[in-house]
Amino acid sequence: LLIAVLMGGPGSEREVSLASGKAVLKALQTAGYNAVGVDVAGPDFELPAGTGLAYNVIHGTFGEDGQLQTILENKGIPYTGAGVASSRVAFDKNLAKEKFLAAGVPTPASEIVDVSNGPKLPSIPVPFVVKPPREGSSVGVTIVKEESQAMAAMETAAKYGNDILVEAFVEGKELTVGILDDTAMPIVHIAPRDGFYDMANKYPWLSGGVGSDYYCPADLDAETTRRVQEAALAGHRSLGVEVYSRVDVLLDAAGNPFVLEANTIPGMTETSLLPKSAAAHGIDFTALCLKIAELSLA
Ligand code: DAL
Ligand code: MG
Repeated sequence: LLIAVLMGGPGSEREVSLASGKAVLKALQTAGYNAVGVDVAGPDFELPAGTGLAYNVIHGTFGEDGQLQTILENKGIPYTGAGVASSRVAFDKNLAKEKFLAAGVPTPASEIVDVSNGPKLPSIPVPFVVKPPREGSSVGVTIVKEESQAMAAMETAAKYGNDILVEAFVEGKELTVGILDDTAMPIVHIAPRDGFYDMANKYPWLSGGVGSDYYCPADLDAETTRRVQEAALAGHRSLGVEVYSRVDVLLDAAGNPFVLEANTIPGMTETSLLPKSAAAHGIDFTALCLKIAELSLA
């Protein structure tokens, strides 16, 4: 079986994807698989002759949003992870929000602000979080605590599109849950050393931030753990995601979980969180890479 590890992509998460792709490639090769890396910059790419599986590690625009999945379907090449429809819904935080609400998955109150006629303020009160709906790795995201910061935050998000998601800010713990084969794995608690879990604190090697501390399994009591895992799995299922994802959850001071999103091509770098969640479940990095391939081919 020749495995082509697709990495890079044209989007703002390109560097993260290259790091994820190299880690996956190394793991597959170390496990004895015939795997090659393919740097995919956009829709025109060639796969090596005889490719039997496209291992997709392209985060963000093009790789995670259903476009690449559509191309691979048309080429008749099996690929890892979520299919076309679920990728598209999971990658668009506005579409995902509708699915969460319809399925009764707890998620922060929100508003979509249409800025096609120029940036404007949302009607929900501060504090809130401004997000471009179709980006990852916190690209373009601002936490707004004072009204005076709101307009700049909307202008930043408007660079990425006109349908800006504004979510009520939930004060509490930042958690994430790896989902593999319809099972919620142990929770990772993320404690950024400064500010929130933004690009710099996610990838200090990339952006020079102070980084974050990670606790896995998270320091939560059994009942809270169960509630968080249940909410994460319900979020994953409500979007129809296949094979695996990593679901981001906030936990407020009263112990209520709020699902933010399901990442269908989660980071697979040295500091990434799905691998931490899997490791605490007894699945090391190589085994995780192989399990994703196996489930995707099943
Ligand atoms: N968007 C990044 C890669 C993640 O979810 O891990
Ligand atoms: Mg994301």
